[in-house]
Amino acid sequence: MSQLSQSHLLGIRNLTTRDIELIFETADNFKSIINQPIKKVPSLRDVTVANVFFENSTRTRISFELAEKRLSADVVNFSASSSSVKKGETLLDTVNNILAMKVDMVVMRHASPGAPHFLARHIKANVINAGDGTHEHPTQALLDAYSIREKLGSVAGKKVALIGDILHSRVALSNIFALQKLGAEVMVCGPPTLLPRYVRELGVRIELSVRKALEWCDVANVLRIQLERQQLKYFPSLREYTLYYGINLQMLNSLNKRITLMHPGPINRGVELSSDAADSPHSIILDQVENGVAIRMAVLYLLANRQV
Ligand code: NCD
Repeated sequence: MSQLSQSHLLGIRNLTTRDIELIFETADNFKSIINQPIKKVPSLRDVTVANVFFENSTRTRISFELAEKRLSADVVNFSASSSSVKKGETLLDTVNNILAMKVDMVVMRHASPGAPHFLARHIKANVINAGDGTHEHPTQALLDAYSIREKLGSVAGKKVALIGDILHSRVALSNIFALQKLGAEVMVCGPPTLLPRYVRELGVRIELSVRKALEWCDVANVLRIQLERQQLKYFPSLREYTLYYGINLQMLNSLNKRITLMHPGPINRGVELSSDAADSPHSIILDQVENGVAIRMAVLYLLANRQV
């Protein structure tokens, strides 16, 4: 039987290409199931999953919860803002207390890079990283690559530009790893202050002009300016950012080809993306959200059924 090489999903960096393909094939099955009138399967009956969110989230948290419920898992939700973390409890104590109640899997979002890796070293449950600070967001990259495969037939050989705040985005790093493993060419584009120095070592193209990036790519994945993670001023004003790096429908229509437009959400409408572009036929933003549930079902299913 095919199975994942890992017992946790901490990042894309340590997945093999075969792992990613296996997740996609499993997600294909789940996608057809969730489009049927009866969306629920018993695959994770008797498995208890804790969604432990130390950072805000709408899409990712709801998507994991729906994926778990459609697999018939028992689900407990925890958000840091309403917990004893505010009273000074450590991460390990919080999670060990949840595990003492017999939890099998932990889906965690945390503001500190490496927090899920730390947890995986100390607890028995399978850990899924739902975003660790500016580091990785593996299920987002999987659903992004899966959506490209669905729209364009394959990821291999496609040119994908990641445009925006590369420095603070965990979606960017996970996307770079996933797309490269699947054989795509990757470009990053944004103001020089928002391109991390290490990006040169990752084998990606670097482009400062958004116009040139759009002319080069088959797919543009537009990323949000992560104002909440910026301690410094990386650009003069949001207005100036939009002027130089904002994407609108007129720009997309002026290209001599049709490109696919993506965004992980939440969109800052009128900043990195205009509403007419986000809502245009170029956009597969809502397909990404739909595919997120199937991808997360696949990851949960494959981790829960892994034989050791
Ligand atoms: C992203 C995240 O939280 O990293 N969103 C998401 O998971 N859908 C991107 C973002 O916050 O801009």
